[in-house]
Amino acid sequence: MNKADAIALEEYRRAHVPLYNDQKLKLGVFGINCSYGLNISHAPTTYEVTWQHTSDIVKRADAMGFELALPVARWRGFGGTTDFNGESFETYTWAAGLAQATRNIMVAATSHVPTVHPIVAAKQATTIDHISNGRFALNLVMGWFTPEMEMFQGMQRAHDDRYRYGAEWLGIVKRLWTDETPFDFESESFRIKQAQAHPKPVQKPYPVLINAGHSPAAIEFSAREVDFSFVGFDSVESVKVVAARVRDKARTDYRRHIGVCTSALVVCRETEAEARQVYRSIIEHGDWVAADNLMKVLGIESQSFNDRIRNYRERLVAGWGTNPIIGTPEQVTDQLAQVSAAGIDGMVFGFLDYNEELKYFDSAVMPLLRQAGLRS
Ligand SMILES: Cc1cc2nc3c(=O)[nH]c(=O)nc-3n(C[C@H](O)[C@H](O)[C@H](O)COP(=O)(O)O)c2cc1C
Repeated sequence: MNKADAIALEEYRRAHVPLYNDQKLKLGVFGINCSYGLNISHAPTTYEVTWQHTSDIVKRADAMGFELALPVARWRGFGGTTDFNGESFETYTWAAGLAQATRNIMVAATSHVPTVHPIVAAKQATTIDHISNGRFALNLVMGWFTPEMEMFQGMQRAHDDRYRYGAEWLGIVKRLWTDETPFDFESESFRIKQAQAHPKPVQKPYPVLINAGHSPAAIEFSAREVDFSFVGFDSVESVKVVAARVRDKARTDYRRHIGVCTSALVVCRETEAEARQVYRSIIEHGDWVAADNLMKVLGIESQSFNDRIRNYRERLVAGWGTNPIIGTPEQVTDQLAQVSAAGIDGMVFGFLDYNEELKYFDSAVMPLLRQAGLRS
């Protein structure tokens, strides 16, 4: 893309695409379509996977001015007494429903690329982009949970091969979104004749693309292909390093600008003691069987206990491995300011009880974020 086109695209996006608005720290809700959200725990909550509940969460986030509703793509649970994430809404159809129910927030589908043909994915994405009038985002995940990928013709590629396949898949989708004339495409994985798709998406050149991952293959894919990379949040220091790595790679190797976001569990209460008590309750009600199942899939040997693994296991139970943001509204604001200063453009949140806690976040934290210059 030449410089003039890049500037025109930037201007178009700033005016029309919420994830490119002028808010310093973009905000979103995450994991709101799967049972237990981000917590592998029986800690008391009203959260449940019903259409009413999930749409209430996203409508509330929309009213608060959040930019993104990001679902998790999941096809089976992790066992234990929770069967963590065992109930989930499929994400393209989930996004389509919410596109109709919301006004400004971007609704994403999270798509395991090997589970859907690129022509079907391109058409579905375009349809949701039209329903939402240009508020659709596509989060591309390659699939790491082998038992889940094996539900699809036993298909689980070697790690880096997943990203090679993903790049081919996405190349086809991008052409379907932009090419006016039919095209043939032939590779080891695809044999496509006279591919075509009309109408084109509302967003130009196509819907916002997201990817998450840390491996060199993931960073390479993100830097080359997508608009936003979601990186894991271990600590402010580490996220700063990873964000710079992704951004530099995009700029140096592909002359592209890429946004970098992250995710976290937020536990915010009037006092720090209260917030810490809620966090402890999530851990105390933890489903350690499901957590250990997940650790095994991730290749972490939980028998050889040491402090690092014990800490990580707790972080899995409370917040899906993210570094939790715990404290009073002031402390939460302070931590979000640090994340922003580390070069992060946006953050998607998990809560123990999304609907109830978003109300508090709206009244107690949003004004402080505005004071801190993170939101306007
Ligand atoms: C914010 C975020 C959302 C993710 N959502 C999903 C998801 O919905 N489904 C999934 O299977 N993996 C999901 N992942 C996992 C990534 O797709 C990826 O597999 C993981 O980060 C490891 O990738 P890597 O081995 O290339 O570093 C998510 C990761 C992050 C950070």
